[in-house]
Amino acid sequence: MKTNLKVIIPMLFAVVILSANTFPTQATDWEVPAKYQNMENPQDANAESLKLGKAVYKKHCASCHGKEGLGDGTKAAQLDTPSGDFTTDAFQNQTDGALFYKSKFGRDEMPNYEKKIPYDEDFWHVVNYMRTFE
Ligand code: HEC
Repeated sequence: MKTNLKVIIPMLFAVVILSANTFPTQATDWEVPAKYQNMENPQDANAESLKLGKAVYKKHCASCHGKEGLGDGTKAAQLDTPSGDFTTDAFQNQTDGALFYKSKFGRDEMPNYEKKIPYDEDFWHVVNYMRTFE
């Protein structure tokens, strides 16, 4: 069979370009509304808060993000988007408000927790707990 390169080559280019567009976006490109960006964390990161945050994290988050926030939870392999490494500066340099916003509302493969975690204070506890990853 004679292959028609004039057709095949442009098709290969098209495939490469289309798949480049589906590559996961970086979590750092995740825009946080100004209202949340500078929101103050009302929960002191005391022992009680860290304990509550750890419980929330273990129950809802560790399956993807891993026990130590490395993104290596049991469900991680099923994800198309890397869930991030919570020990990095890129993660830790974000404001509490930004982490609160991402944790509560999610996007795409990061679930929305508005219903499953009804109290805002629990998100603040979990933000405090995520600060312990290093
Ligand atoms: C089903 C898997 C899954 C679960 C469960 C999950 N996440 Fe995520 N999470 C993700 C993925 C995937 C991303 C990356 C999303 C993106 O960049 O679009 C993410 C991103 C994040 C980010 C932003 C990371 C960054 O670098 O800015 C935070 C914060 C976060 N998750 C917190 C949580 C918290 C808190 C919980 C539990 C209440 C949780 N996640 C549960 C999959 C998950």
